Amino acid sequence: MTNQNYIKIFDTTLRDGEQSPGASMNIEEKLKIAAALEELGVDIIEAGFPAASKGDFEAVSRVSEAVKKSSVCALSRASKHDIQTAADALKNAAQPRIHTFISTSDLHMEHKLQLNADEVYEKVIDSVSFARNLCDDVEWSCEDGTRTSLDFMCRTVEAAIKNGATTINIPDTVGYSVPEEFTNIIEHLMNSVPNIDKVTLSTHCHNDLGLAVANSLAGVKAGARQVECTINGLGERAGNAAMEEIVMAIRTRNDLMPFSTNIKTENIAKTSKLVSAVTGFPVQFNKAIVGKNAFAHEAGIHQDGMLKNNKTYEIMTPESVGVSESNLVMGKHSGRHAFKQKISELGYSISDNAVEEAFEKFKSLADKKKTIYDEDIIAIIDDQVIRVNDTVILKDLQVVAGTKGPQKAEINLVVNDETKNIISTGDGPVDAIFNGLSQIVPHKAKLLLYQVHAVTEGTDAQAEVSVRLSEEGKTVVGLGADTDTLVASAKAYINALNKLIIKREKTAPAQMAGI
Ligand code: KIV
Ligand code: ZN
Repeated sequence: MTNQNYIKIFDTTLRDGEQSPGASMNIEEKLKIAAALEELGVDIIEAGFPAASKGDFEAVSRVSEAVKKSSVCALSRASKHDIQTAADALKNAAQPRIHTFISTSDLHMEHKLQLNADEVYEKVIDSVSFARNLCDDVEWSCEDGTRTSLDFMCRTVEAAIKNGATTINIPDTVGYSVPEEFTNIIEHLMNSVPNIDKVTLSTHCHNDLGLAVANSLAGVKAGARQVECTINGLGERAGNAAMEEIVMAIRTRNDLMPFSTNIKTENIAKTSKLVSAVTGFPVQFNKAIVGKNAFAHEAGIHQDGMLKNNKTYEIMTPESVGVSESNLVMGKHSGRHAFKQKISELGYSISDNAVEEAFEKFKSLADKKKTIYDEDIIAIIDDQVIRVNDTVILKDLQVVAGTKGPQKAEINLVVNDETKNIISTGDGPVDAIFNGLSQIVPHKAKLLLYQVHAVTEGTDAQAEVSVRLSEEGKTVVGLGADTDTLVASAKAYINALNKLIIKREKTAPAQMAGI
């Protein structure tokens, strides 16, 4: 018997999340995130939009080969070409799902699609039946659902079900809805559409008004049994509903929301860190569940209460989401074995070669820095994660800084296996480095953001630098960590350039689909 209160978690970090400006990922990075999502217990992983680019096609194929426990889903517009491409990319998936969509609001039909309602209706029938001939698991979405007339929504949902859809997804594409309205939409569908009980109803809420999680939960209370979401709420514009918030709200307020999910909540923190490291999108300090301050108690009165009973100010434990107390860990005398143990305690499972590489970096850090914290080890591993298969690699950097200009940088890079050297000057050492890098790797990108923060306390702390570049509408974010802020800056700029190189080869799915 199926559990009526089980909520399927559909993660779209690799698809809708990746559509957020600057969050592009390469295939190795997508595979790492897919493995983490599978381990987290996600029911369905939306791996990409295969018709959007060769890179997306390959990413969906590789994720399909690698993931066995979760379903793997591919997005497609309502065209036979898109749907066939999605099916081809999913060929090796153990549990494939095709997700096809079309806009149903008057605004989108008239201005974006330039089709009338009857033409859209026909496309729903054609696309869903075509997809169902290729795959047993078909999801259909009415894009801009929350601005669609309820009558037309019911008509199209009925047609999608009749033609083989197994999941019906209601997107709040522009994050316009409010909980009461979202409840009404789901209740209306439940009460009006024939055979609605034969399919899973799903929510897909964007966060433009900060209501994505509230709207998703309103949908669940009204009868939706799938929630589409992303890690850290990553996604276009203000993002999608944050998975960690939905799952922990259900777990913490099970008295009011008696639902269950398959999510191993203890893996949430490490998955959040991985997504942040790969995309270069920092998690805001006060972000619910995964922010650095989510479990910090600074005020004296709170600390006093916590010491007496942690329930006074904590509605969930840090351990329940995989956050451990920041502790002094190891020093330069710690051996390989202890290091390996620490990495696994921090929730990473990486290859022996990767451990070896990280261990060497840990040893050299321990020579420079008195105390090594968990965060330092996390920074080493994350830094390694973001540098897989890079075209541009930093070999060496010497900088002249100080009050007597011009500041100078001597840079040694490997670009496509070829060594390149340059001496450059600039208005300050960071400018000198960035000028040199721009000469070796020519580009037209504008620097939109340069941000430095310390990984831990102390003047010997590692610096973590984020750099945002934009070239002809394509935005990327690069990250770099090092005890030397200038080296971290060079690494971050190079990381952004590597992402730009990938992005140049790719057509943005958003541009193609108008979503
Ligand atoms: O926001 C949206 O409408 C989407 C659809 C493709 C489901 O992402
Ligand atoms: Zn979306």
